[in-house]
Amino acid sequence: MQTAYTKEELRTLLAPLRGKRIVLVPTMGALHAGHASLLKQARTMAGEDGAVVASVFLNPVQFDNAGDLATYPKTPMQDLETCDKCGVDVVFMPSPDTMYCSDRSITMEETHLSTVLCGASRPGHFAGVCLVVNKLFNLVQPTDAVFGKKDYQQLAIIRRMVRDLDIPITIHGAEIVRENDGLALSSRNVRLTPEHRAAAPAIRRSLLSAASAFSAGKSVEEVCTQVKTELESIPGVRCDYVELVDAVTLHEVTDPHRLALLAVAAWFGEVRLIDNLELSCS
Ligand code: PAF
Repeated sequence: MQTAYTKEELRTLLAPLRGKRIVLVPTMGALHAGHASLLKQARTMAGEDGAVVASVFLNPVQFDNAGDLATYPKTPMQDLETCDKCGVDVVFMPSPDTMYCSDRSITMEETHLSTVLCGASRPGHFAGVCLVVNKLFNLVQPTDAVFGKKDYQQLAIIRRMVRDLDIPITIHGAEIVRENDGLALSSRNVRLTPEHRAAAPAIRRSLLSAASAFSAGKSVEEVCTQVKTELESIPGVRCDYVELVDAVTLHEVTDPHRLALLAVAAWFGEVRLIDNLELSCS
C-alpha cells in the first residue's frame, strides 16, 4: 500500500493505474468495521487487476458545527493499518490546506434532495460533501465509488450529482454494518455516554417495529410518531426528525410501488445519531 499526502503524489501513484478499474472509497477517517466493509467490497469489485483508492480527509467544509468538527475522532495511524489490512492500494490523506485554496470561491449545491432530512438541520453540509466528493472524483478519476447506506441522503445526493453532471463513475451503495445489538456503526458512537450507548440500539428496534406497523396498515404519520415517542422516552434523547419518504426523491411518498425510506436522526445527549430502513410500501 502507498500513501499520498499531496495531489502531486496522488497523481504520480495513480499514473500507472490509468486504464484499470479504480474503485474509490471516500472517508473522513476514524475508520471502523463499517468502513472496513466498504473497503473490502471495493477490493472485491476491483479484482486482482484493478486498484482500490481510499481517501482519508476530515473535510472541514461539510461541518456546520465547529464543535462537531473539533470533537470528531482522528486516528490516522490506525486508519492506515485498516486500509492496509483491507487491501487498499493507495491512500490519499491530504491536509485541509493541500485540499483547498484559501481563496476558493466555487460552491456545489444540490437544491432538492438536500432541503429535507439532515439537510434541513445542517445548512451547507451537503454542499460541502458535494464539493469534496467532486474534487476527489476529479483527482482520483475512479471508474467506481462506494458509499455506505447509513448516510442514505448523502448517497442519494451523490447519485443525483453524478447523473446531473454526467460524471462517468458508477456509484455503489453498501449495506449498513451494525453492532451485535443493532446499533449502526458510526465514528460518533465512541462519544456516547455509557447510558446512551446502552440505550442507542432502541433506534434500530423502533425502526423495525414501525416498519411492521406500517405493513400492518398504520399511516406514515402514525409510524413516525411511534418512533419519535419511543426514542424520546429515553432520558436525554431528542429526535431531530423521523420521516418516511420516497427512497429516491427523499420527499413525500407518492408512488406506493417505489422503495421508501424510514429515516431517523436523534440527539443522544451531545451526539447526533442517524439510521434508516428501506421499505417497500405496497
Ligand atoms: O461519508 C463521509 O464520510 C463523508 O461525508 C465523505 C463522503 C467522505 C465526504 O467527506
